[in-house]
Amino acid sequence: MVHAIRLAVAGIGNNISALLQGIYFYRDLLSRRIESGELPGIKHAYIGGISVGDITLVSAFDVDSFKIGKDLGEAIFQTPNNYPRLGIEIPKQDAKVSPGLRLGEDNMVIGKEGVVEELKQSRADILLYSLPTGMQWAADAYSQCCLDAGVGFVNCTPEIVARNPEILSAFETAGLSLIGDDLASHLGTSIVHQSLLRLLSERGLTLLSSYQLNIGGNEDFKNLLQNGAGKLKSKKNALAQNEAELDLIEVVPSAGYIRHLRDNKVAILNIEAVGWGGTPVSLDLKLKVQDSSNAAGVIIDLIRIAGVAQRNGSGGFHPAASRLLKSPPFGHADDEVLTVENAIMSLDARAMSG
Ligand SMILES: NC(=O)c1ccc[n+]([C@@H]2O[C@H](COP(=O)([O-])OP(=O)(O)OC[C@H]3O[C@@H](n4cnc5c(N)ncnc54)[C@H](O)[C@@H]3O)[C@@H](O)[C@H]2O)c1
Repeated sequence: MVHAIRLAVAGIGNNISALLQGIYFYRDLLSRRIESGELPGIKHAYIGGISVGDITLVSAFDVDSFKIGKDLGEAIFQTPNNYPRLGIEIPKQDAKVSPGLRLGEDNMVIGKEGVVEELKQSRADILLYSLPTGMQWAADAYSQCCLDAGVGFVNCTPEIVARNPEILSAFETAGLSLIGDDLASHLGTSIVHQSLLRLLSERGLTLLSSYQLNIGGNEDFKNLLQNGAGKLKSKKNALAQNEAELDLIEVVPSAGYIRHLRDNKVAILNIEAVGWGGTPVSLDLKLKVQDSSNAAGVIIDLIRIAGVAQRNGSGGFHPAASRLLKSPPFGHADDEVLTVENAIMSLDARAMSG
C-alpha cells in the first residue's frame, strides 16, 4: 500500500490554492479510473509509486490574520488569493492555518518553537516553502525549523537555501531532502525563452539582443515590483548558456501589476539575431498562462521527488529535480533532460522493487 506524502505548507497564497485544488481535481479523475497516462496537464502521473492524488496537506503556516485559524480548504480562497476555482469541491482539511514565523523589531525570528512543534505533531514529511519572494530571513528560519523537526524542505522561491553548502550538508547529514531553489514554471517564460535561445545557438544563428517582460495581476507580481532582485538573478541563471550571452539578454520579472489580469501572466519575448550573410532574424512571442497552475504543475513533482528520495534514505538534493528548478545547487547540465528522466525512472524502479 502506498503511504501518501504528508505535506506541510508555508505561505497559503495562490500556489497552494492551485496545488490543493489540483490534487482534488486529479483524485477525482483517478477515482473514475482514468488511466494514469491519460491525466491531462501533467507528465508524471506517478513518481516512485506516488500518484498526483497521494499528497495530504497536514499543516499550514501564514501570517495573514484572515487566513490564520481557518481550515486550509477555506483559507486558500481568502483574498488577496485570486487563483480561480477549478469547479471541484474541496472538503474540510485536517489542517488549520497556524501562525507562521515573524521578524521582531530586533530582527529576531518569532515563533520558531510553535512551527517546530506543529511540524512534529502533524508528522509532516516535507515542508513546501512558498512565501513572497525577497524574504531570505524567512527561508533560513523555516529551513532551520525543518532540520529541528526532522522534515524535508522544498523551496519554491529564489531565496538561497539549497545553494547554501552549509544548509545542504546539514540536510544531507540528517537524511532529509532539500530541493531548491526557485521552481521553473511548467510552461513559463524562462523555459520557453531558454528553449528558443538554445535553438538559435544549435542552428548557428548569432544572437544580437533579447528581452523578456512579464506582467500579471496577482500578489506575486505586486511584490516583485519592489523585491525582484533575487528573481531577476534566478531567471538569468535559468537562461545562462554563457556569460557573454547573458549581457545581451534583458529580463524584467514584473514589468507591471495589472489588477484585472488576476492570476494570469502575460509574457512578451523578443529575440533579434543574424543568420546567413548577416541578414536579420526577428522573433516576437506572447505567452499567456494561469500563473499558479504553472507553479503547481511543477510543485507536484518536486514534492514527490523530495518525499520518495527521503523515504529511500537519500538526504540532500536529488538530481531528478534539477530541470524543474531555475537555480539548482549544481547548475544546469547540457544532458539534463535525460538525467532527470533517468533519475525519476530510478525512483520508480526502487518503488517497484521495494
Ligand atoms: N507562479 C509561479 O509560476 C512561480 C514560479 C516560481 C516561483 N514562484 C514563487 O512562489 C512564491 C509563492 O507564490 P504565490 O503566488 O503563492 O504567492 P502569494 O503572494 O499568493 O502567497 C504568499 C503567501 O505567503 C504568506 N506569508 C507572508 N509572510 C509569511 C511568513 N512569514 N510566514 C508564512 N506565510 C507568510 C502571505 O500571507 C501569502 O499568503 C513566490 O515567491 C513566487 O515568486 C512562483
